[in-house]
Amino acid sequence: MKIVAVNGGPRKGKNTDQMLDAFIEGVKSAAPDAEVEVIRLYDYAFKGCMSCFACQMEKNRDDLGCRIKDEVSDLLRDTFHADGIVFASPIYYCNVSAQLRLFWERLQYPGHSPKMIPTALIYTMNANEEQTEQFMGKPLELNSWYLEGCFGVKPEVVCSYDTFQYNDSERFNAAFREPAARKKALHDQKFTSDLRNARDAGTRLVHKIKEVQK
Ligand SMILES: Cc1cc2nc3c(=O)[nH]c(=O)nc-3n(C[C@H](O)[C@H](O)[C@H](O)COP(=O)(O)O)c2cc1C
Repeated sequence: MKIVAVNGGPRKGKNTDQMLDAFIEGVKSAAPDAEVEVIRLYDYAFKGCMSCFACQMEKNRDDLGCRIKDEVSDLLRDTFHADGIVFASPIYYCNVSAQLRLFWERLQYPGHSPKMIPTALIYTMNANEEQTEQFMGKPLELNSWYLEGCFGVKPEVVCSYDTFQYNDSERFNAAFREPAARKKALHDQKFTSDLRNARDAGTRLVHKIKEVQK
């Protein structure tokens, strides 16, 4: 079983990274032999879709995939042919990071995957659940809709709200300073259970893969 874990966040060891690690732990606990390929998008120089439409040409119908040759060409192919995929991203301006959007443009435009591929989405954000629903509900719902259209299975969504962006708040411009005490209390209380949720979602992804491959 091959699972591709796409990390759309730039910061190593921070919220998104930790959530993705927990998810992978869940995968490994359910399928110790699973091969997990982690793709850290910020390590690669690449562009989004160039609208060349080569992926949609009749002559390419048996070999779906983006035709642009660059540092992520092989990674897109690996992702499109995986048994399961998890995408993780911090929320930037009410949606996933620009890097993940670039990757999605090229992953999804070629069309439907030839097989059903269970997917999961991990989002981390400063907003609380209510604010997320109010301001990001629609765009995040559309991300799931597009992924379901491409891979044939509705993605499971795991969120970590109220994330803590830095530990040394006093160093930052007051306009950006986090209300440290409140945020830290919320974070400590919630983040452990967020990691548990991510881990459980990893386990469920393995079960879903087995289900669709029966
Ligand atoms: C450029 C930028 C834009 C952001 N936009 C939002 C936003 O629209 N909504 C939100 O809730 N958090 C926003 N955040 C906060 C991050 O989503 C949040 O801190 C996230 O958990 C960071 O993940 P990381 O610790 O893995 O880097 C933004 C952060 C940055 C740097």
